[in-house]
Amino acid sequence: MENSFEQPVSNEILSSKQIKENEQVSTPLVDALENSLNNLPLQFHIPGHTRGQGLLDRFKKIMEKGALIDNTDEFNSFGTLHPATGPIKKAQELMAMALGASHSYFLLNGSSIGNFAIAMSCLKPNSKAIIGRNCHRSVITGLIMTGATPVWINPQKHEEWSIWGEISPHTIETELKNNPDVDLVWITSPTYEGVISDIKAISDICKKYNVLLAVDEAHGALWNFSDKMPTSALELGADVVVHSMHKTGGSFSQSSILSLSKTSKINPEIIENNLRLLHTTSPSVTLLTSLDAARGYLQSEEGQQNIEKAINFATYIKNELRNYPKILVLTEEDGFNLDPARVYIMIKNLCGRRIENILRIKYNIEIEASTDNGILILSNIGAKLTDVKILINALKDIASKNYTDISYLEDYKFMPLLKPVIKMSPKDAFYKEYETAETKDAVGRISVDLIAECPPGIFVLAPGELITEEHLPYLVNYKTLKVLKEY
Ligand SMILES: Cc1ncc(COP(=O)(O)O)c(C=O)c1O
Repeated sequence: MENSFEQPVSNEILSSKQIKENEQVSTPLVDALENSLNNLPLQFHIPGHTRGQGLLDRFKKIMEKGALIDNTDEFNSFGTLHPATGPIKKAQELMAMALGASHSYFLLNGSSIGNFAIAMSCLKPNSKAIIGRNCHRSVITGLIMTGATPVWINPQKHEEWSIWGEISPHTIETELKNNPDVDLVWITSPTYEGVISDIKAISDICKKYNVLLAVDEAHGALWNFSDKMPTSALELGADVVVHSMHKTGGSFSQSSILSLSKTSKINPEIIENNLRLLHTTSPSVTLLTSLDAARGYLQSEEGQQNIEKAINFATYIKNELRNYPKILVLTEEDGFNLDPARVYIMIKNLCGRRIENILRIKYNIEIEASTDNGILILSNIGAKLTDVKILINALKDIASKNYTDISYLEDYKFMPLLKPVIKMSPKDAFYKEYETAETKDAVGRISVDLIAECPPGIFVLAPGELITEEHLPYLVNYKTLKVLKEY
């Protein structure tokens, strides 16, 4: 036979093929997804559409077509993502209008890729950026990619709640005076727990010092869609802002938005070029369309009502729980400016992880996250009053019972409120030779690892930072760490 395609397959290959045919095909993830559908917990976490309850009807119907609709850009007249053309371009423009932005870009791989693009667009290898210490791990990836050096600023620290609070404009001004060579101020507002910083004051300071301002508003995706929500950084003078539309805005997981404000000093071409470098070349049309559908839904009458409902449910939960024995509810009366659709509570004598576990195991309720002391509940656009009532009763029930902490949960800390000791830039440490050390022996060494548990993805250690005794309670799950070889 001349044509090699017609050669008989060798015995060895045949036999392995036969084995495969006789074996049961293993699909653990498909199994897990199937099983999860048999026991759906009540959902007080992302994604905000809450199993399709806060979704545009037309989009829901399209989604019923399942695999029929899976496709990438460029086919079927969808247009392309890079450069933006056709319906994709039009959908991005409508999103920009809805957000009050000059340009909005659809993101796959979440706000993480938005943060990478901010770093690539605003920083260079020798740049300095003033960054809030409670930033998401993707900001550190951006620093590793660019080689820029962070000037860390700590937000207000609230040990009693075990959360970071707002970033003080005064601190930013002080650091801008101390570091006249800074190119960018980059902060997270709201925080994961919903604490909002004074962006107007911060942007005024940035303008005074002629420095760009990036705001990670990942958790504020709903804000531009309702007057009852806080004002977005896009309106308050930030140059560039990311929104995790998939978290609370009702689009599908991983879909986010990067926007330039109308007053932005950043050249859109630079952002477009960098996003093109970072993005997949096969963007999912389903995810892109879900962003368009979410915007359409939030602007619709039903969407508007559901935003208001999400706020009202959150207020209802807070009011029901705030005077209940042993329950503490974070409110504006505690001196915070807060996102109105997030609820953060503590139950005396129980750590956050324990409350989260009891809710899941005993009541089949899943919340967004827990901190060392408290839990975070999202009141979503897809939330239902019946579910809200069940949650309130469950929390009252837990508070009234004599639950105690379990030490392994109590001892494991994961929201460090520490001031870092920086020995070198994240990029320098990342590319240096490293060795592995037992965690307990790593004190006094320089971390090469980026250690950040998700949620909330706020890091314990970044590459280039000194590992100290204080870090150890946050590293209980790490037997070993990567540390610089020579130090
Ligand atoms: C403040 C903040 N920024 C960015 C991100 C990354 O967002 P995404 O998961 O959409 O990539 C997160 C994720 O939790 C976050 O909390």
